[in-house]
Amino acid sequence: MKTKLTILSTIFLSGCCLCGKAPRIANPLSPTEPFRIAIIPDTQWASLKWPGVLKTTTRWIAANHESMDIKYVLHVGDMVENGHADGEWKNFNAAMSVLDGKVPYILAVGNHDIGKTADAGGTTKFNEYFPRKRFTQLAGFGGTYPRRKNDNSYHTFDAGGIVWLVIALKFCPTDEELKWANDIVALHPGHQVIVLTHSYLTHRGRDTSGENIWNRFVKSHENILMVLCGHLSTVHYVSTGDKGNKVYEMLFDWQNDRQPEPNSYFVLAEIDPVSKRISIRTYSPLLDNYKTDPRAKFEFRDVKFVSDRNAALTAN
Ligand SMILES: [Fe+2]
Repeated sequence: MKTKLTILSTIFLSGCCLCGKAPRIANPLSPTEPFRIAIIPDTQWASLKWPGVLKTTTRWIAANHESMDIKYVLHVGDMVENGHADGEWKNFNAAMSVLDGKVPYILAVGNHDIGKTADAGGTTKFNEYFPRKRFTQLAGFGGTYPRRKNDNSYHTFDAGGIVWLVIALKFCPTDEELKWANDIVALHPGHQVIVLTHSYLTHRGRDTSGENIWNRFVKSHENILMVLCGHLSTVHYVSTGDKGNKVYEMLFDWQNDRQPEPNSYFVLAEIDPVSKRISIRTYSPLLDNYKTDPRAKFEFRDVKFVSDRNAALTAN
């Protein structure tokens, strides 16, 4: 089944590239088995103080991605504490390199990942360690903005009978970056979209950046299902887009600058298009422990996936 899905998806994706835009009813797949994505919250203290903690996480994901069907790894940003510090980037790079060739990943640039100097937007070090060319060989690499930099990027993958598009937006995206994001999502109406950005929510709703991203991008696209972010605290909401679609907004950040253990937790999101569920679990490979906090263990039910919408369109 997986081979068949991959072939179908490849045909579909190739079609998009050839004609320059996606077909009106774009998803030819049927919902299948559940799968997982791994979401890594802020790792700034681990990269600075406890690089072994982060490597324990990525080693666990690399060792278990097949048995747990982990399709993609998403980092919410603040990969390092000091965006200009080579030592921290080397630590972070060493940990993420464990995943290379095993599980693809996509990175959102956080405020701490931006260097103190005004060098090309402050992302020179990030692009030195994670340049665009490091990702172009991935089967699902979509593109970046600006074209030569990895500041903002999008990847696609097929899982659970759905073609997914993950778009990572740099900390506090500019008008130009949001225009790019709008254009990319508009070109892929049959894809189920996950938005990944660093600063978006607080425990009192969206922050200033989140409101801007919501109003100028997220709310107008019916196929955006989730927004994942980090930065401060941990909380989740369900919002309603302009077309009446539900958007699952989730903030994960378990970082701690005093103890290594809290930095070892990451999120396993199980997505099941058949039973219409998204289940969130938060696990530490270092401690071999799942959090039971309701902010770390919860489930969304009756989720309407893009495959349901496409099936309805096909039937009409
Ligand atoms: Fe942050």
